Amino acid sequence: MTAPAPSAETATANFPIPDGVFAEKVVSVQHYTDRLFKFRITRPTSFRFRSGEFVMIGLPNAERPVYRAYSIASPNWDDEIEFFSIKVPDGPLTEHLQKIQPGDTILMKKKPVGTLVLDALTPGERVYMFSTGTGIAPFASLIRDPETYEKFNQVILTHTCREVSELAYGEELVAALKEDPLVGELARDRLIHYTTVTREPFPRQKRITDMIETGELFTDLGIPAINPETDRAMICGSMNFLKDVKTLCEDAGLEEGANSKPATFVVERAFVD
Ligand code: A2P
Repeated sequence: MTAPAPSAETATANFPIPDGVFAEKVVSVQHYTDRLFKFRITRPTSFRFRSGEFVMIGLPNAERPVYRAYSIASPNWDDEIEFFSIKVPDGPLTEHLQKIQPGDTILMKKKPVGTLVLDALTPGERVYMFSTGTGIAPFASLIRDPETYEKFNQVILTHTCREVSELAYGEELVAALKEDPLVGELARDRLIHYTTVTREPFPRQKRITDMIETGELFTDLGIPAINPETDRAMICGSMNFLKDVKTLCEDAGLEEGANSKPATFVVERAFVD
C-alpha cells in the first residue's frame, strides 16, 4: 500500500502570512483531466473585484512563496472564488497546487487587476470571447455576470482545446449557468458556447482562427462577419493565439482598448503555462 500524496497543507511548514495577502481555505477541488483542474476557495469579505480580472495566488509552503497570476473564474457576486488551472509538471506553483485538498490554505494577494473587463470595451451589440485551454477562466466569470448581458445583446464564447476532454469544464459551466436563477434566462437566450477541438476527431475539428479567416464561424452561426460598428472582442489564451486573433480583429477594423482607454477589443494571456 502506498501512502496518500501529501496535500499542499501537510507539506507546509508554519510560515507567517505576508502583508498584503489573504489566507483563504480551499472549499472544493475537481480534476477534469491529468492536465486540468478547478478549485474554489473562501472569499474574504473585504475582497472586491471586477468580473474578468486576475489575482496573484500562492501556497504557504515557503518563506518566500511562489505566486502566479490566475484569472478569477467566478463572477463578482459569488461568495466563493473559483480558479481553473493547468497542471504543469515541475511547475514551481502548480506542481504543489494540483495536490490541494479542501481545508488547505491558499494565499491570494489583495489587489485584482486586468484588462478583460467590461469597462475596457465601448458599448456594442455583440461580444466575442475567444479562448483556448485555461484561457476560458476570465470568461467563466464574465458569462455569469448579469452586467455582461446588460451591456451586450449577444455573447459568443468560443473555446478551443487540443482534446475533447479538455472542454468539460466549459461544458459543465454553461450547462449549470443555463439553470442559474440569477442569469440562467439571459444566458439561455443570449449566450452561444462554440467549441472546437484540434487534435482528435470532433464535429468541428479546427482552430477558431481558421474558422474566422474563412468566414465559416459566421456562416455557421448565421451572423455577419465581425464589424466594428456592432461587435466587440475579448481574447484569452496562449501568446500565439493572442497574436493571431488580435491580427484578425484588427483586420476586421477593431481597436485594442484598456481600462484607461476603452475601445473595441481587449487581450490577456492565460498566464500559467
Ligand atoms: P493546435 O492543436 O492546432 O496547436 P495550447 O495547449 O498549445 O495552448 O493549445 C490549446 C489550443 O489552442 C489547441 O487546440 C491549439 O491548436 C490552439 N491554438 C494554439 N495556438 C493557436 C493559434 N495561434 N491560433 C489558433 N489556435 C491556436
